[in-house]
Amino acid sequence: MLNDKLGNLVRTHRCGDLTAEQIGQDICVMGWVQRRRDHGGLIFIDLRDREGIIQLALDPDRDLASHQKAEQVRNEYVLAARGKVSPRPEGTVNPKMKTGEIEIEISELLILNRSETPPFMVDEFTEVAENIRLKYRYLDLRRPALQRNMMMRHLVAKTVRNYFDEQGFIEIETPVLTKSTPEGARDYLVPSRVNTGNFYALPQSPQLFKQLLMVSGFDRYFQIVKCFRDEDLRADRQPEFTQLDCEMSFVNRGQVMDIMEGMIAKVFKAALGVELSLPMPRLTYAEALDRFGVDNPDLRFDMELIDITREVADSQFKVFASVAADGGLVKALNVKGGATFSRKDLDGFTDFVKIYGAKGLAWVKVKEGEWQSPIAKFFTADELSVLNEKLDAEVGDLLLFMADSASIANEALGRLRGHLGEKLGFADKNVFKFTWVTDFPLLEWDGEQRRHVAVHHPFTAPLEEDIPLLDTDPGKARAQAYDLVLNGSEIGGGSIRIHDQSVQSRMFELLGIGEEEAREKFGFLLDALIFGAPPHGGIAFGLDRLMMILTGSDSIRDVIAFPKTQKATCLLSEAPNHVDDKQLQELGVRLRTKQQ
Ligand code: AMO
Ligand code: AMP
Repeated sequence: MLNDKLGNLVRTHRCGDLTAEQIGQDICVMGWVQRRRDHGGLIFIDLRDREGIIQLALDPDRDLASHQKAEQVRNEYVLAARGKVSPRPEGTVNPKMKTGEIEIEISELLILNRSETPPFMVDEFTEVAENIRLKYRYLDLRRPALQRNMMMRHLVAKTVRNYFDEQGFIEIETPVLTKSTPEGARDYLVPSRVNTGNFYALPQSPQLFKQLLMVSGFDRYFQIVKCFRDEDLRADRQPEFTQLDCEMSFVNRGQVMDIMEGMIAKVFKAALGVELSLPMPRLTYAEALDRFGVDNPDLRFDMELIDITREVADSQFKVFASVAADGGLVKALNVKGGATFSRKDLDGFTDFVKIYGAKGLAWVKVKEGEWQSPIAKFFTADELSVLNEKLDAEVGDLLLFMADSASIANEALGRLRGHLGEKLGFADKNVFKFTWVTDFPLLEWDGEQRRHVAVHHPFTAPLEEDIPLLDTDPGKARAQAYDLVLNGSEIGGGSIRIHDQSVQSRMFELLGIGEEEAREKFGFLLDALIFGAPPHGGIAFGLDRLMMILTGSDSIRDVIAFPKTQKATCLLSEAPNHVDDKQLQELGVRLRTKQQ
């Protein structure tokens, strides 16, 4: 059977855009068949395009040829349909549908293409295994949820471009075939044919190039840019992802944060109609850790960590007392009304904190005048009342305690706080709580490499007042760095950079990067810094992570048209794949067996 030709037929409307306003007009729509229903003579077809669904009504008395064609139509056929927009007969109006008041009385129907039965129903309701969705991604993308996500992503990108343009930023492209710039992940490498034995790296971010653009005097740069990181994947990580990347000259960090808040506010307004209240809260890293245990706190709920090290230092409970004596931390969480959690739940929480290296988790159910808990017997009545007071404990609450090194106690209890927030339904997807986290440590000690590594990256400037610490106690120096955290997710991070070559060289020294290595890796940046580099700083946002939150998606894959699996493969194109020996020969590359 031949398909009908489109000929000169012109589409006048998208299916989902039609409303009662067009009643009486002759219109033409084109799209895919959602379903066909035969009603003794009358045939109804739901036709779908990216804007929605419209009902076509085919009456043999009006146009026999179209009706006969409609009898052949099956799901996912591609149709063009011309006719008159009419109100639906009384009693058949569908208030759940955007176009539910109307239908099109068809006078001409073309079958533009046929379709095999698809491997799954293209609708909102059918649950489909993700590997099937990814293999037939082009069909999956026809489904309304993904169409909405992609369209919102476009709207966000457009809003960002407009905003940055208004603020005097210039979009400049930076190379994709480049030299590796360290951001803490592995590079994707690309062999060079004309320079046999040499490799390009795909950029983990445009960090060095955007700094060079500041040296060049562009003053305000932005780019919506693909970045590549060969790291272990999680629900919010992809090997290639998109950054909203910015850099500005002659600014301090407060100015960078103000401009970026303005951008985020515009995005929320455009995408969701939500007005954010500015300025956004700002927490120092130290305060974030103290109150929430982590540097990406979810502020949709309170349940703060409370430091009780002092209060339990002299208690009979040796676990707490000895940790306090050794300079560790004892911290607690009050889960309001949590006394109803079962033993099994409590065991589950204990298993959860062990993932983060915790040795255990003590629990207390607060009852009338007493603690129901395996550790109650170690505390005097006075101690109990001090702790109850400090933790604001009331009957029915669940108190959770952890004693460990500061870093483990904070992280494990902080992660448990996030986990409980989800479990207790505090993590409402329609609530948006932002916070900046500032004053990160500049360096952290890497026990394995036995040297300091940069917490953000080696180009981040220390706080002015902490520069002397670089010589005396570098581990204590804080950075002019800032992250933007939304609902517990780090959606962006940046810093004021070092623009003074001598400070940059000192920084490399601290990181144990010798002069020769620094020249070999970053010589071009060091050279540029001596030719009048202005003070500058910037930030990059993870567009995919931001889109996850805006669309309420649990997986980063739902906001990317053609994403990769957890194993970094593309089930649609079957990348990565073997290449033939001739290609490898040209590149001067020989495969060898991987050492496990
Ligand atoms: P950073 O490494 O913090 O900073 O990255 C910025 C933001 O990018 C997002 N992101 C990711 N999203 C998805 N998948 C990934 N694998 C992934 N990795 C990072 C996060 C993160 O906050 N050059 C600096 C920025 C700067 O200093 O200006 C940088 O890349 O949301
Ligand atoms: P069904 O559930 O298969 O009976 O189909 C109900 C759908 O068919 C609704 O969307 C109705 O709008 C549509 N429908 C059924 N009969 C008519 C009719 N006579 N005129 C217009 N729409 C109809």
